Amino acid sequence: MAWTKQMPARPVVAVAGATGAVGAEMLAVLEQRDFPLSGIRALASARSAGKRVRFRGEDVVVEELTEGSFDGVDIALFSAGASVSKQYREAVTSAGAVMIDNSSAFRMEPGVPLVVPEVNPDDALSHQGVIANPNCSTIQMVVALAPLERLAPIKRVVVATYQAASGAGQAAMDELYAQTADFLAGRPVEPKRFAHRIAFNCIPHIDVFLEDGSTKEEWKMVVETQKIMHRPDLVVAATCVRVPVLRCHSEAVAVEFGAPVDLADVREALAGAPGVTVLDEVAKNRYPMPAMLEGTDDVYVGRIRRDPSVESGIQMWVVADQLRKGAALNAVQIAEMLLPR
Ligand code: A2P
Repeated sequence: MAWTKQMPARPVVAVAGATGAVGAEMLAVLEQRDFPLSGIRALASARSAGKRVRFRGEDVVVEELTEGSFDGVDIALFSAGASVSKQYREAVTSAGAVMIDNSSAFRMEPGVPLVVPEVNPDDALSHQGVIANPNCSTIQMVVALAPLERLAPIKRVVVATYQAASGAGQAAMDELYAQTADFLAGRPVEPKRFAHRIAFNCIPHIDVFLEDGSTKEEWKMVVETQKIMHRPDLVVAATCVRVPVLRCHSEAVAVEFGAPVDLADVREALAGAPGVTVLDEVAKNRYPMPAMLEGTDDVYVGRIRRDPSVESGIQMWVVADQLRKGAALNAVQIAEMLLPR
């Protein structure tokens, strides 16, 4: 059944997970983009009730997330984990609010749009109370793939990711700091958030392993890309790796086309694409890197070159701040699309 409730011009917005890495960024993005809201609610677990978060120069008291949290709320941005999203979906939608969910809980559910505004904005219009925000690694890749798909149909994508610690939450970022200090001081390092030490290491293991030997993170990049791009036939091979970087995921992406494509056209298509910045001046050692892109909004693409291993294909290096475009910014952009025109 289609969603018929009219969105007010100045909705009340709730952020569930407001004390977390993504939730804090959601508040920051709402503020920076001057989102026209008439009220803000910061929700988190009972542990955080009574804490304060800053919004538009004022303190907002964090409330415990409960079934009753959504009275009077129009838009609920969720980033508190998949089980929390599942638990509160009914409470949100029966209160008449639209849930924009950053977790993996509903992404592949038929009828739940999975939206990247630069790629498939129209999908958001058919929501039935829940819109899913894709996985961070998927978002930045499809923003770069969409302008290429308009040049020629993409046949195959091979991607390796270099994912920042903050993708696993605030505690994981804290663990990278702590482990680095412990390691340098010669103290024993005890992994908690990751399967192994993350300081001075790379871990080819994000989310759980599946029966075929891939990880769930890798699977997400395959099926979410197919759903967002409306290309169930698009083959994608992903290897997802956690690296000791605080913020910004990087991806080495090889794209094979089904027809000849000119490299100059690839550059032009990327340079003109919404949400993309091309940073590709190798003569000056200029290419995207996490350390220079923390807090930015665009998807940065560099190292654009021919893939010599296929008849028609390119390779590129894609970096984005995954807490922003990969999570909070994408969610707020979706919320903006719900506002009355
Ligand atoms: P809290 O800080 O009270 O634990 P991150 O992704 O950085 O780990 O953050 C997760 C966010 O989700 C935090 O705001 C956290 O709140 C919130 N959260 C986790 N579990 C629950 C829960 N059961 N109910 C409500 N909020 C939760």
